[in-house]
Amino acid sequence: MPLKVQLTSGTVSRVEADVLALPVTQGDMEKQPLLRELDQALGGALLEQATAAEFAGKAEQLFELPTLGKLGARRVVLIGVGSKETLSAPALRTYAAIAARCGNAANARSLCIVALEDDELRSLGEGVVLGAYRFTRYLTGERVPKVQLARVDVLREKKSRAGDAHKRALNLGVRIGEAVCIARDAVNEPPNELTPAGLADLAKRIARQNKLKVTVLEKKAIADQGMKLLYAVGQGSENEPRFIHLRYAPGKAKRKLVFVGKGLTFDSGGLCIKPAPGMGEMKSDMGGAAAVLALMAAVAAVAPSVEVHAVVASAENMPDGAAYRPGDIFGSLDGKTVEIINTDAEGRLVLADALAYARRLNPDVIIDAATLTGACVVALGKGCSAFYTSEDSLVQRMEQAAREAGEAFWRMPLLEELVEQLKSDVADLKHTGDRWGGSITAALFLREFVGKSPWIHCDIAGPVLADKAKGVYPKGGTGHPVLTFLRFVENFE
Ligand code: BES
Ligand code: MN
Ligand code: ZN
Repeated sequence: MPLKVQLTSGTVSRVEADVLALPVTQGDMEKQPLLRELDQALGGALLEQATAAEFAGKAEQLFELPTLGKLGARRVVLIGVGSKETLSAPALRTYAAIAARCGNAANARSLCIVALEDDELRSLGEGVVLGAYRFTRYLTGERVPKVQLARVDVLREKKSRAGDAHKRALNLGVRIGEAVCIARDAVNEPPNELTPAGLADLAKRIARQNKLKVTVLEKKAIADQGMKLLYAVGQGSENEPRFIHLRYAPGKAKRKLVFVGKGLTFDSGGLCIKPAPGMGEMKSDMGGAAAVLALMAAVAAVAPSVEVHAVVASAENMPDGAAYRPGDIFGSLDGKTVEIINTDAEGRLVLADALAYARRLNPDVIIDAATLTGACVVALGKGCSAFYTSEDSLVQRMEQAAREAGEAFWRMPLLEELVEQLKSDVADLKHTGDRWGGSITAALFLREFVGKSPWIHCDIAGPVLADKAKGVYPKGGTGHPVLTFLRFVENFE
């Protein structure tokens, strides 16, 4: 049953729901009227207990209390949103997500979340859907969750009536949240189910549901087009590669963005095989592709007046008799030849052909997303992505988009002194350098294929998959960086 999210008005102490969530700003808790109203209805127990538990409204702080029949709601949850001055879209999105997660944890069927006065209903809609998300497709019997969150009421204060604009904002948020969950599902799907062909099917479904144009190239067409690097990476697997192109083209568009995603549905490392521990995590090596495809569903919901394309190079990197090997030399769609050093550095190869393709679309900016290097995770940790760009003017745009989305990105440098590591004796380029600066040399390799197009490269190897739930991210596939890319598109109009 799909989650129903709707606006309501009423009195907090009387709303009927399994869980009632209230945002609490840091500071004087006695002065927050709704909190006082609830506290009075509970005979003073709420503030007393919350204070005893050292709840103070700090960001992401939680306090829960059963209401023992004294409120319309069976359980009340106070959620800290930090100081009132810094209350922004990401803080409200996180608040709503935590509320929904509490609802799931409490086996709630219905949840009521209270909107603050200066509410941003779109953020709340996004947050609720992002927080309620669970990946349960492969659970059976006892493991199937018995209760599902079916209804979320967003409670606004009585004095202002809900207009169409409010409802539209909330519904848009819900659709955006659902789009992000497309990326999460794809990352969580096991690699035996989500093959390159499966990823292409997902793109077709997104196209059908959102009236977008889609093109899929199969193995033979990939070879015919001259995408030799994508072909090479895919040649060792029974699950053949796919090249995917989705477009959103409104009539009035003056500008064009092309997003490019790395779509390795599984990365064993190929002949340079990875060690067994953690290899299963490489099902998430299509996180970039999942994000740019999901982005298109979000873009269709927002309907901006900018043309947006998603280009995905998808393959499975496997070792077998037909697999590509270290020492091989291949041409590329761009024309440059590449000497293979390590078959585990496959991402930059498939991206090289996708970037060369993207360039031909004459975009204002190319933005790629790839779970490209372990070195990036070493540099920035699991929670933060790197971005690289040769255009200083794009740095602020990218930083602003990430800030508004509440996602962590950090600019890294395209150090010219590392370029020489990519020189080959027998081909135009080697595709890896040495260990040090591994995320940077990967970015420098990609740069060889973007020509003069303004370009941002995002190494998202850390944040696509989370070890534990935090903020709007659940454990597992996070949907990072769909929200950042969406803000980038919206601010680019
Ligand atoms: N998909 C991996 C990168 C990765 C590592 C993503 C850890 C998420 C978590 C990529 O294809 C890879 O294997 N990169 C190699 C490159 C090396 C061989 C130059 C790496 O980072 O070790
Ligand atoms: Mn690899
Ligand atoms: Zn990879």
